[in-house]
Amino acid sequence: MARIVGAVTTSHVPAIGGAIAKGRQDEPYWKPFFSAFGKARDWLARVKPDVAVVVYNDHGLQFFLDKMPTFAVGAADEYRNADEGWGLPTLPPYRGDAALSWHLIESLVADEFDITSCQEVLVDHAFTVPLQLLWPGPAPCPVATVPVMVNTVQHPLPSPARCLKFGAALGRAIASWPSDARVLVLGTGGLSHQLEGPRAGFINPEFDRMCMAKIVEEPEALGGYSIRQLVELAGSQGAELLNWLVARAALGGRVSKVHSNYHVPVSNTASGMMVLENWS
Ligand code: DHB
Ligand code: FE
Repeated sequence: MARIVGAVTTSHVPAIGGAIAKGRQDEPYWKPFFSAFGKARDWLARVKPDVAVVVYNDHGLQFFLDKMPTFAVGAADEYRNADEGWGLPTLPPYRGDAALSWHLIESLVADEFDITSCQEVLVDHAFTVPLQLLWPGPAPCPVATVPVMVNTVQHPLPSPARCLKFGAALGRAIASWPSDARVLVLGTGGLSHQLEGPRAGFINPEFDRMCMAKIVEEPEALGGYSIRQLVELAGSQGAELLNWLVARAALGGRVSKVHSNYHVPVSNTASGMMVLENWS
């Protein structure tokens, strides 16, 4: 059966993609952010995933407010990137694994998650930027990918408790895939940020640090927050924490933190990163 090698959670701010395109990783503004990823890449070199299941939220490139699935899974052999208007170069297509995707979709639906299956997905910065951070350079991303999209944009959003259950079901689905593949679960977005309205620029380091600790020790505790509380405490786009909860819950059981970083700000966002591994 397939094996989950661990999870990486990271912010997905488009400006990171701009800094990569312009080679700004060592500039004073960017260094504290980028330098944290060396250890994540060392870990990847050790655990050698074949596939990344990327849990993220689309920002209007694929879905818009008129049609918004709560949970959606890509089922294609290739995923194209396209211009979102952030001034980022459009990246070459990412390799998919349609057989794994369909296994995940069948397993999730059998597990009572009525997800939307998508035989075509345009992948946005929330998918591409984290993959660029983990596998930098001009070569195509070396792992196959499966996009898993969570609605963190158009209310009503799934609750933190629901996302923990969805993540657990995703973990069971991956672990029941008859294959010897090594699977990384990647959760993108967050941490606290709000891009619009009177609270634009809102960041809450105390809440972020608490979430990073609970994700390791006691993720169920985060399941007690309502979406309203989450938006109040983390900002309207801080609701992207839901993607982290899905990725964490996919690991199940107890985890250890291999590496983490927290740095404020990256663009308008409190950036967080964690590498998590199941206890062996
Ligand atoms: C920013 C953060 C995001 O999560 C996003 O999707 C777009 C922009 C930002 O901080 O600029
Ligand atoms: Fe975002």
